[in-house]
Parts: sequence; C-alpha cells; structure tokens
Amino acid sequence: MTAGLDPVKLMKQQVGKVAADRVQSGSIIGLGTGSTTAFAIQFIGDRLKSGELQNIKGIPTSFQASVLAKQHGIPLTTLDEVDLIDIAIDGADEVDPQKNLIKGGGAAHTREKIVDSLAKEFIVVVDKSKMVDTLGSTFPLPVEVLPMAIAPVTAALQNLGGTVDLRMGVKKDGPVITDQGNMVLDVKFDRIDDPVAFEQRVNNIPGVLENGLFVNVADIVLIGDIENDQPIVRNMDA
Ligand code: 5RP
Repeated sequence: MTAGLDPVKLMKQQVGKVAADRVQSGSIIGLGTGSTTAFAIQFIGDRLKSGELQNIKGIPTSFQASVLAKQHGIPLTTLDEVDLIDIAIDGADEVDPQKNLIKGGGAAHTREKIVDSLAKEFIVVVDKSKMVDTLGSTFPLPVEVLPMAIAPVTAALQNLGGTVDLRMGVKKDGPVITDQGNMVLDVKFDRIDDPVAFEQRVNNIPGVLENGLFVNVADIVLIGDIENDQPIVRNMDA
C-alpha cells in the first residue's frame, strides 16, 4: 500500500487523522503549527464539512495555522473571547520519555506554548523520528529573541555551553522574522539533562521572549510509524 509513497508523509498524515478524530463537537481547539498538524487541521475541516463535527472554533498558533484553518473552513476565535481551550493538537521536533518536548522548528513556539499550555488536553502528533532519550540530542533549541538583544543573548547562550546560529530565511535574504516580529536563535547543546531548570534559565536571559522547551505540558503523545508496510499510530502511554 505504501509502495512509492513517502513514508514520513504517510506517518504524519495518519497521526494527524487519529488526533483529529479525538476532537468533539462544541470544542475550542488549539491549532498547532507544522506539517503534521497541517494534516490534523485538514481532517478536522473534513469532519466539519461532513457534519460529523459541529460548533467548533480554533485558536491558531501561527499565521500558517490561521491560513490553513480558513482554507479548511474552521471558524477561528481568540484568547480574549474564550475562557478555556478544550483540546490542542501540535507537532514537536523532539519528544523525551517523560513527554517533554523541543518545539519551534517552525519558529512558532511562543504562541504554541501559550495555546498548548492552556489546553485541558494537549495532544502531540509526531512521527517516530522525533523520539529521543535526552532532549537536545538531535535538534537545536529554538530561542525567540528581541532583535535589539541578539548580541547579548547570543553571548549568554554561549556561556551556557551552546553553539548559537541565527536562523536564516529561505527564499528571503536575512534572518527569519517570527509572527511577533522577532528573530530566532537555534542553540545546539550536547544534551539538556534538566529541562525544567533549563527552560527557566534560558527564559531569564533579558531579551529572550520564549524558548522551545515544553516541560510537563503534553498530555498525550501520538506517534506515527510504519508496520507491515502500513502507517500505524501508537499512543506513547499504551
Ligand atoms: C513549529 C513546531 C512544529 O510543531 C515542529 O517543528 C514540528 O513540525 P513538523 O510537524 O512539520 O515536523 O514546533 O514551531
């Protein structure tokens, strides 16, 4: 069945579908950012169009999520209008065995952390390549920084042992500019042993808006895999 098809895409598609199937009518949904969540948004829109889902509203975590939601007919709302978020669905760049995450591969981690943290149930959707024993082992930590503080924040992150790269645009000269008008430093550490303390430590550097460590935020991690040539989805806790 998977012959000739991109296995990573198939895993992302299937995990996005399984997450979308968990959304119930009447829910306020946090809509994450990235290629895996894009499938979830598409499937939520399909369920809405078929009448299987009714009376839902999305809170987007980025310009990308907002565009996709509109494209798939999902009405949007804001944190000024609602008291709570029932369910959030979002991707990740790394997931450790305690369900702690590194996010921010799409430079959206600041809004993602606000929305995902407020959700009663936060579901992470990943393919199996994102699973790690220790955070930081494969992916640099994204740090959103006010542009005027790039130099001192770079120095402070180097003092913490990081190798720092200013994230550059694709098909755009110069740095990536976030939805908030800031820049992103990608900081490679050998490993992040104490993510609870480290999240605070990085966020305490003046000029840092938010970093991509999501500690004790995820409730459920759904992992896409390929088994017997078929895409399957495992719940990390099952
Ligand atoms: C965006 C994110 C994404 O959720 C993360 O980068 C995973 O993306 P993808 O599903 O495309 O692999 O954190 O800021």
